[in-house]
Amino acid sequence: MRIGVLTAGGDCPGLNAVIRSVVHRALTGHGDEVIGFEDGFKGLLEHRYRKLDLDSVSGILARGGTILGSARLERGRLDEACGHAEELSRELGLDALIPIGGEGTLTAARMLSDAGMPVVGVPKTIDNDISATDRTFGFDTAVGVATEALDRLKTTAESHQRVMVVEVMGRHAGWIALESGMAGGAHGILLPERPFQIDALCAMIEERFARGKKFAVVCVAEGAHPAEGTMRYEKGAIDQYGHERFTGIGNRLAAELEHRLGKEARPVILGHVQRGGTPTAYDRVLATRFGWHAVEAAHERQFGKMTALRGNDITLVPLAEATAALKTVPGHRMSEAESVY
Ligand code: F6P
Repeated sequence: MRIGVLTAGGDCPGLNAVIRSVVHRALTGHGDEVIGFEDGFKGLLEHRYRKLDLDSVSGILARGGTILGSARLERGRLDEACGHAEELSRELGLDALIPIGGEGTLTAARMLSDAGMPVVGVPKTIDNDISATDRTFGFDTAVGVATEALDRLKTTAESHQRVMVVEVMGRHAGWIALESGMAGGAHGILLPERPFQIDALCAMIEERFARGKKFAVVCVAEGAHPAEGTMRYEKGAIDQYGHERFTGIGNRLAAELEHRLGKEARPVILGHVQRGGTPTAYDRVLATRFGWHAVEAAHERQFGKMTALRGNDITLVPLAEATAALKTVPGHRMSEAESVY
């Protein structure tokens, strides 16, 4: 078999572990040939690929990022590719394509599959928001990074009697904020799934200081927002030149808390540090299992499907199911975190 593999969309710790696993299983388990497309679907459309042998994936298990490069594809080019998907597969001699990616990539994979390309998807995202899989690799690593940041920020916050606002990734789903906030003992956890109440958050922080505590830490997902019309810094702060600045929620919330509480507040935007660096052991194992199963699925001609974790087992689910809706944090998980809304 000739199997193509590519990584598309935002990168994520564990991508290299999947690539390595695909190559090992395909070459040593089946005697296949594996080619890696560069820069996601762009490499596929532009016939930019290289042969992957055991040597080429040696030493990458613990490495963050992706040795193949990643990119986002414009919708127009994808539609064009769908118009000649079968021809493209023939030209490239592809018996199977394994795209590794998040919601956007898996939607593109489903469209190419519907158009006749033999596709088996592998889900990835630090956001853990893909339906039909209990977990995505990258999430455990991101939660670990954010938790460590919260731990570290507590000591400096206490020294200066400050309120720290830590903004973590998660535009539509607050999984990282929820779990790092819980693990790092944040005093407020704010998620995109439910507008937060700034009055209640302030009351909680004030009560904490009244109890003699000297600091507070709030963990906010980048997609979280306040109940409408409740915040002074609803949009962003206006600088001395009249420009709107600090528009992200972390910055606005820190400005708001400082104004309301009369205490120093500092925003910390963790950003892409959550996506970089070496994957945790958990993510390496999950990524490796996904790669192994994707190759097996290709040999069983289970196309139009995606590898998924259900309980402790890896299974296959239709790409259509996986891309139907994002997996957001349900109410009962928010209640467990005793967050302030
Ligand atoms: O992978 C998803 C994600 O991490 C989001 O949480 C974040 O908003 C986004 O990627 C940012 O990605 P980029 O800066 O690469 O566009």
